[in-house]
Amino acid sequence: MTGDYVLPRKATPEDPLRLAVLISGGGSGLLALLRYQSEGARNHVTSLVISDSESAGGLRHASDSCVENLSIPLLDGLTGAERRLEHEGRVMKALTSYDIEMVVLSGYMRVLTPSFVKEWKGRIVNIHPSLLPEFPGAHAQRDAIEAGVEESGCTVHFVDEGVDTGTIIEQRKVPVLPGDTVETLTERIKLEEHVLYPRVLDEISSGRVSV
Ligand code: GRF
Repeated sequence: MTGDYVLPRKATPEDPLRLAVLISGGGSGLLALLRYQSEGARNHVTSLVISDSESAGGLRHASDSCVENLSIPLLDGLTGAERRLEHEGRVMKALTSYDIEMVVLSGYMRVLTPSFVKEWKGRIVNIHPSLLPEFPGAHAQRDAIEAGVEESGCTVHFVDEGVDTGTIIEQRKVPVLPGDTVETLTERIKLEEHVLYPRVLDEISSGRVSV
């Protein structure tokens, strides 16, 4: 194991790893994970869903599955760094009070501060819609189309202090087809994401991933 990554414990279906899934939008990835967890005995369970937006459609998926969910928006009236830290403080408090063991970013549109990452390093993962290190950032599908690549995909990686730079765990590829738009490529990638993320969480919670 390199650096300061601390991996989660090896869990069992009888005592599954308690995940918090952080979202900002529609939550199709969250829905796929909840379905996967409900279909069989897994070593992980979604114990909490947090959104930074009250209107995130994904909160509905949590409620429909009777999973605890909170919307924790940023406060008005604070500025810059202060606002970020205050917000993360409330997220951290929620993670502690629900005994969360691992954080799963699933379309969470905020970049976490180094101090937050340090607390969770090795126990926080993200999914990104490109074959990292190609096309990091918020416009991965657009950037792939503009670059004219014939192949893209998705990456699950540990989160570190950078943006989409942490250790890569697993990837899946999709073709980029002539005439693809951001929307068509996004949908093709999501189909792969919805298979990949739950499987990677199986691997991590079973102690089969090292970093
Ligand atoms: C996914 O494409 C993921 O790769 C990216 O954000 C998107 C989330 O989509 N980080 P959804 O909210 O799960 O539908």
